[in-house]
Amino acid sequence: MSSTQSKSRKETLQRPKGTQDIFGADVERWEYVESLCRLQFQNAGYQEIRTPIFESTELFERGVGEATDIVNKEMYTFEKSERRLSLRPEGTAGVVRAFVEQGMSRWAKPVKLYYLGPMFRYERPQAGRQRQFHQIGVEMFGLDTPASDAEVILMAMRLFEKLGLPGLSLEVNNIGTPECRERFKTGFKALTQSYLSQLCADCQTRYNTNPLRMLDCKNETCKAIYAQPDVKTFLETDFTSPECQAHFAELSAILDALKIPYCRNPYLVRGLDYYTKTVFEITSNHLGAQNAVCGGGRYNRLVEDLGGPETPAVGWALGMERLMSLVGELPKRELDYYIVTDRHAAAFALADQLRAQDYKVDVDLSGKGFGKQLERASKLGARQAVILGESEAQAGQIQLKNLQSGEQTTLSQTDFFKTLAPAKKRFNG
Ligand code: HAM
Repeated sequence: MSSTQSKSRKETLQRPKGTQDIFGADVERWEYVESLCRLQFQNAGYQEIRTPIFESTELFERGVGEATDIVNKEMYTFEKSERRLSLRPEGTAGVVRAFVEQGMSRWAKPVKLYYLGPMFRYERPQAGRQRQFHQIGVEMFGLDTPASDAEVILMAMRLFEKLGLPGLSLEVNNIGTPECRERFKTGFKALTQSYLSQLCADCQTRYNTNPLRMLDCKNETCKAIYAQPDVKTFLETDFTSPECQAHFAELSAILDALKIPYCRNPYLVRGLDYYTKTVFEITSNHLGAQNAVCGGGRYNRLVEDLGGPETPAVGWALGMERLMSLVGELPKRELDYYIVTDRHAAAFALADQLRAQDYKVDVDLSGKGFGKQLERASKLGARQAVILGESEAQAGQIQLKNLQSGEQTTLSQTDFFKTLAPAKKRFNG
């Protein structure tokens, strides 16, 4: 081995740009939020699905759309045995692939699924934007009703309320079907043709390739052109079919009845190609430029486009990193008992029984004196110490020390188990 090689072996290595280590108190907060989401979804009849982290590149090309930035510029793609594979940039395409491949279209409808896990996009990292980030998402298959759009939106809003997220706004829009979008292309191009030379280079390209994406432009000149009243009216009503407009009106009526505040944003078009009719985003004014916590919408053609039977669907995904930056103080799970001991076999048996009843229990393994062990118990914030030395083990007893009041009692192990209060749950759903 050369000296440069051995030297470089000893240098510390860093995680790749745009990724994070999640540990310590942060990971406890993540676990809490993940458990809360799981419980909310399960309470509403959603089942978890776990799909691969990599899929065939073609799935995303056909699913998310070849012309999107996500597929065009941001995918981590590699080749193995002449197959092109990509790390998933989002969850929906993989869930739809599994829905078709596993024959879920034969299940009773609606089929309601949820997922959580890492996603990968090669974007320029900045606050709120990572290259590996985590999504939690839901997808509902089989219904093309405004009520199903409302159900998934309501679930997101209630979840965020429960977590106390500040400064939220819900924006919704109706982008119609691919047929409506043909009308959009013709109408929008006619409305903006005379401004073409004033538009930015990106919009000039999109004018020919994907005019809907022009509405997402951040350039001030382009934004001013698209904000003109005739363009706005056209976007709000004119281009979608009467059926799509009626769908949107009914969704609006349900949101109104539920008193969920929202605004229609005719410029909300989303960065993925599979959407039809309803699209929505939940943003927070406590985030910076990357202010969307959650995005989603209806995608009535995707199952068919990926080889399945005609199946309408709707769903959303939230970004965990952005969500966690908004979540305030969360209830911490306290350590119920700390077992101070030099009789480990007996202590493990006691811990087993307590943990079986959902208590959080730690056994001291240090071999240090009981004074030092009690200090450690207090440092860890345990509510009570259970002292189990040789004499207690022989007598079938324990000493219970309340670490807040200092009060200490000796009792038989049988009595100890009889007097236990029910373990505290972290949340009740
Ligand atoms: P999306 O809007 O691309 O939608 O992503 C959803 C959420 O993921 C965003 O609102 C954001 O919170 C988070 N996110 C996206 N990219 C990043 C990033 N680079 N760094 C940090 N967070 C990020 C979808 O992915 C669709 N699959 C949602 C969906 C489900 N539509 C229907 N069903």
